[in-house]
Amino acid sequence: MKSKIIVIFGGSGDLAKRKLMPALYMLHAGNRLDRDLVILGVGRTPLDDKEYKSGIEAGLKKYLSGADFREEIKNDFLNRIHYLKMDPANHLEYAMLDKKISELSGNSGNNLYYLATPPSLYEIIPVNLKRSGLNNSESRIIVEKPFGYDLESAGKMNEVLRDAFDEKQIFRIDHFLGKETVQNILAFRFANGIFEPLWNRNYIDRVEITAVENMGIEDRGGFYDGAGALRDMVQNHLIQLLALVAMEPPVAFNEQEFRNEVVKVYRSLKPLSESDIVRNVVRGQYIASERKDGLRIRGYREEKSVAPDSHTETFLAMKVNISSWRWEGVPFYIRTGKQMPTKVSEIIIHFKPTPHKLFSSSEGCPEQNQLIIRIQPNEGAVLKFDMKVPGSGFDVKQVPMAFTYDKLGGLPSGDAYSKLIEDCMNGESVLFTRSDAVEASWNYFNPVLKYWAENANVPLYGYPAGTWGPQESDSIIEGGKCWTNPCKNLTDTDLYCEL
Ligand code: BG6
Repeated sequence: MKSKIIVIFGGSGDLAKRKLMPALYMLHAGNRLDRDLVILGVGRTPLDDKEYKSGIEAGLKKYLSGADFREEIKNDFLNRIHYLKMDPANHLEYAMLDKKISELSGNSGNNLYYLATPPSLYEIIPVNLKRSGLNNSESRIIVEKPFGYDLESAGKMNEVLRDAFDEKQIFRIDHFLGKETVQNILAFRFANGIFEPLWNRNYIDRVEITAVENMGIEDRGGFYDGAGALRDMVQNHLIQLLALVAMEPPVAFNEQEFRNEVVKVYRSLKPLSESDIVRNVVRGQYIASERKDGLRIRGYREEKSVAPDSHTETFLAMKVNISSWRWEGVPFYIRTGKQMPTKVSEIIIHFKPTPHKLFSSSEGCPEQNQLIIRIQPNEGAVLKFDMKVPGSGFDVKQVPMAFTYDKLGGLPSGDAYSKLIEDCMNGESVLFTRSDAVEASWNYFNPVLKYWAENANVPLYGYPAGTWGPQESDSIIEGGKCWTNPCKNLTDTDLYCEL
């Protein structure tokens, strides 16, 4: 049964303004929300409905594209929205929430709760919901990442949630899985017969996964300084991308089979020894720099709510190995960072070179074939291969065969959050993370966190904001190869590189 009310804990926070309300607006604009669905923002900030709505309106104007924002739709959308000032940590205040829900939606019981609060409240809110009888079997709960702080806390959080809700009512969101281009990895691999025979250690040399951003931490210092890149991006988004590239074909695309295959990948990640961590994990932190136009970019330690001697990493590069029949010996290099030259997420499959070189190339050695799966921006895919340069002689040159989404009419408006919230309202959990996947992923990364915590002298390399991170990250790629630093444009990169 569809929910009659969405209760957003952390309703006055950054995520609600930046992502959740725009996503709900897009669903509303596309007539994909039930006519009588009510949205209740809950937070500690004292606001009345009018003040709350004007904050949401400002957020919609800022975060929706100009074409998506329409005055009449916005007014209609805001009619759904209400606000309740309450402290979600205080169980006594839940009677007030109960009353408000009854007033707004008749207390049908099928409430959808969205935890968009600081993670410290993720363990408290489910307990309070249960204590107040607001955890009806029809209700659902969406939990934002980071899901836990490490293996132990993730296990504890799973217990707390399962004490109040059944696993099928719990939706752990990783918004990367809501991205059209991320889902397309599955279509690319499993709807085509031509790639799968090559998709293994016999033909693939290495895989690179890069998800970098050209902005700092903005106003999220309070959260970020206690988290860092590993918890914020790697343990969830990057490893999820890796799983989609590495997984075996599921028997069927349903929540059971698909998620079983994801977990199988996590369980086959080769455990990291201390010497692996020293050699193959490089962390960095951005330092102040001056852009070409003279604008100074603040260093991480100068950001609001960040400790002046913070050791939190804003960049992480590492080599991941998978112990499996398919992937033995194929390194997966993954990398993320804030304040990089551009915002781009992509996966590059580097195929093995031909066993015997017949031709030369005016550009040096002929390059290996590559398949680039671009998650964002300029969404699409490029297959790079060598062709003969016209004219005398027998030089070869690498050329691209490209597909971009505009050829399919472009990507639908609304982003990953719209898709996932809609899935949750429809009770579809295939694109949400199961408890065992969360724990298996933490299990892999826990030794890194432990090693960093126990060894104060682990290097944290400074990199000037606006660069590709510490040079030391190059050393983890073997065989004289290096990271591919992507341009914003997916195609024509030999002509220009937009950053
Ligand atoms: C979030 C992280 O999960 O993903 C942010 O907390 C990051 O730090 C964001 O900026 C990146 O997502 P997207 O969809 O903008 O690439």
